[in-house]
Amino acid sequence: MQGARILATGSAVPDLCINNQKISEMVETSDEWIVTRTGIKERRVLTGINKSVVDLAALASIKALNKISMDPLEIDLIILATSSPNDLFGSASQLQYQIGARNAVAFDLTAACSGFVLGIVTASQFIQNGSYSNVLVVGADVLSKWIDWSDRSTCILFGDGAGAAIIQACSEKDNGILGFQLNTDGEKFDQLSIAYKENKKIHKEWPLPKGEFKHIQMNGKEVYKFAVSKVPISILNCLNSLNISPQDINWMLLHQANKRILSAVADKLDISSNKIISNLNKYGNTSAASIPLALDEALQKNTIDHNDIIVIAGFGAGLTWGTVVIKWKC
Ligand code: COA
Repeated sequence: MQGARILATGSAVPDLCINNQKISEMVETSDEWIVTRTGIKERRVLTGINKSVVDLAALASIKALNKISMDPLEIDLIILATSSPNDLFGSASQLQYQIGARNAVAFDLTAACSGFVLGIVTASQFIQNGSYSNVLVVGADVLSKWIDWSDRSTCILFGDGAGAAIIQACSEKDNGILGFQLNTDGEKFDQLSIAYKENKKIHKEWPLPKGEFKHIQMNGKEVYKFAVSKVPISILNCLNSLNISPQDINWMLLHQANKRILSAVADKLDISSNKIISNLNKYGNTSAASIPLALDEALQKNTIDHNDIIVIAGFGAGLTWGTVVIKWKC
C-alpha cells in the first residue's frame, strides 16, 4: 500500500456578491431571518456570457498547481465533483483541456454536497493501490443556475464556487488520508433534488418524451434533521475505526450548509466550537465546492499545522453523507 496526502489546494469564487439585503428585494425575507436561521450573510453568483462551472474549476486548479509549481502534464487523474455541469455527458474533460492536463484521464462525480468527500476517497483509492501518483480533485458548483429565485426557502441558501486539491502518492508512513465512512439513503432522494420532468410528447404516433430539469426542490426541515442526526454517527464511526477520540481532533470541517448544523454536530460530539472551520457567512452553501473552499481559506490563514487531525464530513442530496479523516502533512 502506498500513502496519499494532499499537497496543495486552491479556490475560486465569482466576483458578483449578493448580500441578504439584495435577496430581500427579490423575495419576502430579511437579513436578520437569514443570518439567524443559517449564518449566511452573502453569496457569490456566476454571471457572464459562456461562463461556466469549468471556468471556476480551472481557476481553482491552476491556483493549486501554481502553489507547488506542478506542471499540469504530471496529473494522472482529474475527478470533478459537480452537480451543475455544463454538459450532461460530463465537464471534467473540458477542465482537463482548459488547464492543459493532457495526460490525465478525467471524469465527473455526481454526489451533490458530498461530492468532494467522495472525490477525495476515490482519489486516495487510486493512489493507495498504486494506479496513479498525482490526482486533482475539484469540487465545483454553480447552483445559482438551478435556483428558483422566487422561492425564499431555497434561494437564500446557495452560492457558486470551486475548490481544488492535489493529492499525491507518498510513503506509507507519510499517509495523510487515514480513513473514511460513506453512506447513501436512496429512499429519501426526493428530499433535495433537481429533477428531470417530462412535459411534452414530440410525436403524434409514438410517445417520444421531451422534458427539462426543474429547479432545486428541498424539504428544509427534513434535510436539517437528517444532517444533525446522521453526520455525527458517521464521524464517530470513522473516528472509532481509527482509534481516535473526537477530543483528539484539531479541526472539524463540515459541508458549509448552515451554521446551526455545524454547531449541532459539534455539540453532539462534544467538539469545542473553536475547532469548527467555517466560512459560510461569505459564500452560503456552495455544494461540492464548500469543503475545499473552506479548507483552502483555512490554509491561507495558516490555521492548520503539520500533523493536525482534520475530520471532514459532507452531506446532502441523494441523500448521501460521509466522513474522511485527514492528518495534515505540510
Ligand atoms: N425568510 C423569511 N421567512 C421564511 C423564509 C425566508 N427566507 N423561508 C421560510 N420562511 C418562513 C416559513 O414560511 C415559515 O413560516 P410559517 O411559520 O408562517 O409557516 C417559517 O419561516 C419557518 O420556516 P421553516 O421552514 O420551519 O424554517 P426553518 O427554521 O426550518 O429554517 C431552513 C429553514 C431552510 C433554513 C432550514 O430548514 C435548513 O437550513 N434546513 C437545511 C437545509 C440545507 O442545509 N440544505 C442543504 C443541505 S446540503
